[in-house]
Amino acid sequence: MVDLQKLGDREVDERIAVLKEKLGEDLFIPVHHYQRDEIVQFADYTGDSLELSRVSAKTDARFIVFCGVFFMAEIARVLAARDKYVFIPNRDAGCPLADFASLEDVEAVWRVLQEVDAGGYIPVTYANSHAEVKAFCGREGGLVCTSSNVQKIFSWILDRGKRVFFMPDRNLGINTAAAMGMADEFCVVRSEPEKEREEIRGKRIVIWDGFCIVHKRFTMQQVARWRGEDPEVRIVVHPESDPEIVDASDDTGSTSKIKRLVEESPPGSKWVIGTEFNMVQRLKSEHPDKFVEPLEVSVCRNMSSIRRRDLMKTLLAIEDGDYADQVVLPEDQVRDAAAAIEKMLEIS
Ligand code: 13P
Ligand code: SF4
Repeated sequence: MVDLQKLGDREVDERIAVLKEKLGEDLFIPVHHYQRDEIVQFADYTGDSLELSRVSAKTDARFIVFCGVFFMAEIARVLAARDKYVFIPNRDAGCPLADFASLEDVEAVWRVLQEVDAGGYIPVTYANSHAEVKAFCGREGGLVCTSSNVQKIFSWILDRGKRVFFMPDRNLGINTAAAMGMADEFCVVRSEPEKEREEIRGKRIVIWDGFCIVHKRFTMQQVARWRGEDPEVRIVVHPESDPEIVDASDDTGSTSKIKRLVEESPPGSKWVIGTEFNMVQRLKSEHPDKFVEPLEVSVCRNMSSIRRRDLMKTLLAIEDGDYADQVVLPEDQVRDAAAAIEKMLEIS
C-alpha cells in the first residue's frame, strides 16, 4: 500500500489522473462549487445542489465519488440506481446547518403543527438536511427543495391551500417568504413550539431556526464598506445570508446562479460575492477581465476537508474492489427520502 503522505502533490495528481483513466466510464465524480481547486480539477461535473442531484440520478457509472458534503452524497445514494456504489472521500465532511434539525426535534414540532391545523401543513426540507429528515418529509407527503427552486416549491404548497413547514435554514425560509411578498405571513419556531402555538396558528409559513455559520459571517458593515469603496460594484449573495444582507445586495441566488451572473457579465464588470471563499476565489481567477472579490473571506471547513489524498485513497479502494467505505442508508429511509426528492425534481 502506498504511503500517500510521502507523495508530493504533483505525483498524487498524476496518480489520480491514471486511476480516473483506468476506471473510465465506470467512474463519475460530481463536485460542488465550494470544493477546493485541487478537487475541482478532477470533476466530471460541477454544479449546485440541484444540478448535482439531477446528474447523480442519471449517471450510468457504477461508482459515484461525490465531492461535496455528506448530505449531498446521501442524495446521490437515494437517487442512484441500486447497483451503483456511492462514496465520499472524507466522511467527516458534514454540514453544520443540517445538524440543526434532528428527526426527533422535527417530529416534536410536527406534533404541535398537527394540533394547530391537522393535515394543513406540508413539510419541506432544504437539501442541507439529514436523510432521515428527508425521509420524514417523504412519509408525510412533503418534499425537498434547494436554493434554486425554493420559491417554486413554496408556491406549489401554498397554491394547494396548504401551509409550509420549512426546515432547517431560517434565512432561506425568511428570504423566500420576503421575495414572495409574504413577509408578514411567516413565523420562526424556536425551542418551545408549544408556547408559540398562537403565533404559529396565524401564519402560513412556519420556519425552523437553523443557520449556516459560513453565510452568517456576512455583515452590513462589509456591505457598506464595499459600497463606499466603489459604488459601481454589484453585490450578490447566497440566500443563506441574513435577510438584511440579502435586502441590501443587488441579487441573490444559488451557487450556480452566482457563477452564471459573473460568467455572463461583460468585461470590466465588478462583483462582490457573499458566499463560500473557494468558489469566489475560483471565479476571480477564471475571470481576470472582471473585478471579483469576496464580501468577506468565509471558508466552509467541511467542504474544504476533502483533499486530493482523500480522493486518491477512495479511487485506490475502488480499483482494489474494496467498497466497504461506500455510503449506505437503510432501505426504508432510501424509499421515503426518494419520494420527497423525486417530487422536488418533478416540480422544478
Ligand atoms: P447551492 O445549492 O446553492 O449550491 O448551495 C449549497 C450550499 O451548501 C450553500 O451553502
Ligand atoms: Fe453547510 Fe454552510 Fe458549508 Fe453550505 S456553506 S455546506 S450550508 S456549512
